[in-house]
Order: sequence, then structure tokens, then C-alpha cells
Amino acid sequence: MLNCTRIELKVPCTKPFRILLAGDTHLIHVDEQDDLRKQELAVRRVRDFGPAEEVQAYWDETIRYANENCNLFLHAGDLIDFVSHKNCAVMKESLASIRIPLLMAAGNHEFSQYVGEAKEDDAYKAQSFEQIQSAARNHLDFASLQLNGINFIAIDNSYYLFKKRHLLQLKDECKKGFPIILLLHNPLFSEGLHDLSRQIRKQPCTYLCGVPDEYLIAYPPARREQQTPDEPTLEMLDFLRAEPLIKGIFAGHLHYQITSTCTRDIPQIVTGGNYNGAVTELFIRNPE
Ligand SMILES: [Fe+2]
Repeated sequence: MLNCTRIELKVPCTKPFRILLAGDTHLIHVDEQDDLRKQELAVRRVRDFGPAEEVQAYWDETIRYANENCNLFLHAGDLIDFVSHKNCAVMKESLASIRIPLLMAAGNHEFSQYVGEAKEDDAYKAQSFEQIQSAARNHLDFASLQLNGINFIAIDNSYYLFKKRHLLQLKDECKKGFPIILLLHNPLFSEGLHDLSRQIRKQPCTYLCGVPDEYLIAYPPARREQQTPDEPTLEMLDFLRAEPLIKGIFAGHLHYQITSTCTRDIPQIVTGGNYNGAVTELFIRNPE
């Protein structure tokens, strides 16, 4: 059974509607086309996510629930745990079975070959980008979808970084004048989320995008290097802080449901691990 968190969110829109937000499904399928190393990886990952069939059952139930009850399906990334023939086939087939408008953001695992075996950077992503892109229904680097007067925009920040091109594309989207909800994989840093995340996860780093130096200093060196924002990322965060059209941020990556506020009191809603049946249902209403 799904573990559904229901949230009402007030955003200027032309009519009330319902969104199913899921993320971190982490499908772990392999078949005989994959090498032995990949098959062993799939066995190991059962410890983290449960048997492949159970993860699949939660994903099937998520799609069924959204098709029957919601007007928009958003996936915040990590639909698959690693690149495999069967994961790609299931991704393509299951996304095709979603009968309501769909927007998906890429997660770091979408492009993961053997999970944690290599530095995840642009060159690493490029090894599998075309293969995964061919299983998706929107562009995985940047995509937008307008529904009921709101512009939903998915941007790949799954390696904790935004690109220069993302800011240019977002500025173009702002010219359309619609209120914007961003769909990301990695949540954005805020003091509140950082504190909550430290309390919940009790780990020396928080896996957020845009963590300031004063917090990063205490991170283990590899995590500090991974999660330090670069110049284009800081520019994007400055822009988001100043742009009044940004009305909400939806994300995943943390594997637990948590709602907080970012700069200017923008709500940031992080959906839990869908591999466990977690989903978030959002009731979008016009502010009074
Ligand atoms: Fe994940």
C-alpha cells in the first residue's frame, strides 16, 4: 500500500488540481543481457531497497493511483537505480503507461553504471545519457510543462550543480510570465532544511545543493568536494532567491518526506523513497 503524504499548496492557477509527486523509485532490474558484475550489483541493492518485484509493485501502484486520481504526474528522479537493459525497458514501458501529463527530472542514479564506482561528472553522465534519454518522455537536462496556468520546470541538478545553460533557459521560461514550480532531484540548501536533515539523517553531510562554505568545512573531504557549489550554481541560486515567479520547489534524493521553506518562504517539498511506497499528493489551490 502506498504511503501518501497529502499537502495543500496555494499557487496562482486557473483551476484547482491534483499532482502526484514521486521520486527515488530505484528500480533494480537486470536480465541475461547484463554482465555478471551488474547482476551482482542488483543482488546487493536488494538490501537497500527490497526485492526488485516489491519495488516494481510500489511503482505500478503509484502509476495506477496517479492515473485514477491526479491531473499531473511529477517524478523527481532516481526512477532507476543503475543503467541496465531491463531497467531501461521497464522505464520506457512504465512511463508510457502514464495517461496524465508527465514531467520527470533526472536523478544521479539515472546515469549510474555500477553505483559508487566512479566520480559522477559530465563525462560519466555522457556514457549513458542517450540510452536513458531514449526511455524518457521529456528532455532530462531541462524541460517545462504548462498546466492550469503554472509552468512546471524540471532541471537536472543531480550532481549538486546547475549549468550556465540552465539559468539562460530558466530566464527564457520566466518571459512566459507564469508562476513557476521547479522539479529538481537534489533539494536546495536552506538553514531550516539543513538542520532538519542533520537531525533526521544523523550523518556528517546533508546531500543538499548550494551548501555554504561554513557548513561544508565539517563535511568529510569527498562529500565536501561532491557537494560544493560552483559559480554557475551560485548564480542560479541567487536568481531563484530574487525571482518572484518561483513559487515552489519539489525534489527527492533524501529518501524521506520533508517539507520546509527556502528563501522568500518558498515551499520546498521533498518526497520520500518511492521504493518504499512513499508518494506525495499535492492539492493545488489559488491563494484567497
Ligand atoms: Fe535516490
